[in-house]
Amino acid sequence: MDKDRIASRRVYLRALTKDDAPALLEAVETSRESLKRRLRWVGDANDLEYFRRFIAAADASSDSDTWGVFEAKGDRLIGVASLQEMEDPQRGRGRLALWIASDRQDKGIGTEAARCLVDYGIRKRGLHRLFARLDPANRSFRRVLKKIGFRYEGCLRSDRRLNGRWVDQECWGMLKSELKR
Ligand SMILES: CC(C)(COP(=O)(O)OP(=O)(O)OC[C@H]1O[C@@H](n2cnc3c(N)ncnc32)[C@H](O)[C@@H]1OP(=O)(O)O)[C@@H](O)C(=O)NCCC(=O)NCCS
Repeated sequence: MDKDRIASRRVYLRALTKDDAPALLEAVETSRESLKRRLRWVGDANDLEYFRRFIAAADASSDSDTWGVFEAKGDRLIGVASLQEMEDPQRGRGRLALWIASDRQDKGIGTEAARCLVDYGIRKRGLHRLFARLDPANRSFRRVLKKIGFRYEGCLRSDRRLNGRWVDQECWGMLKSELKR
């Protein structure tokens, strides 16, 4: 499995290049309201410069891997998926995060992209544990995590500031030993 391109049935993940900035801006523009409810950075992501900087930072990062999520049919950029916080090789863990453009949500695509991250993170990179955090109101992401085999681990109270209020963060995780062969 190549880090630069991870293929699934309806989507593939590939590393972003600066030429993807316009498509990324467009995907966020069309999904802004739904993404803003869940993701803090969306309020600042208003122009091409933001996405050029985002792509450069992702490329330079030593503790995260980031991919664009593309539809296999038509090659449209419809989201971003990443494994973050992999800073500590001894612990061998990574945080799974992703977003999908609102007009492509609820079609199983987020689940497909998340499975690619699990395969890559555990099978290819050999991470011992993947984890995710979610706002308890985020029923869609919870469902994705359940579908790919993550387990609920507990809840951090008032852990994150989002849209002017403190929100709890549910902790979900999966161990390498739990990945079905
Ligand atoms: C979370 C997210 C990536 C999921 O992507 P997606 O492509 O819609 O995911 P899927 O279609 O594979 O699965 C979504 C599931 O949630 C379910 N769902 C959607 N809204 C729901 C709701 N309000 N209540 C319960 N279930 C809901 C869908 O029915 C589907 O489950 P099913 O396949 O059993 O029917 C997408 O909603 C998103 O980008 N959200 C905004 C960003 C975000 O919250 N990212 C996660 C934190 S990093």
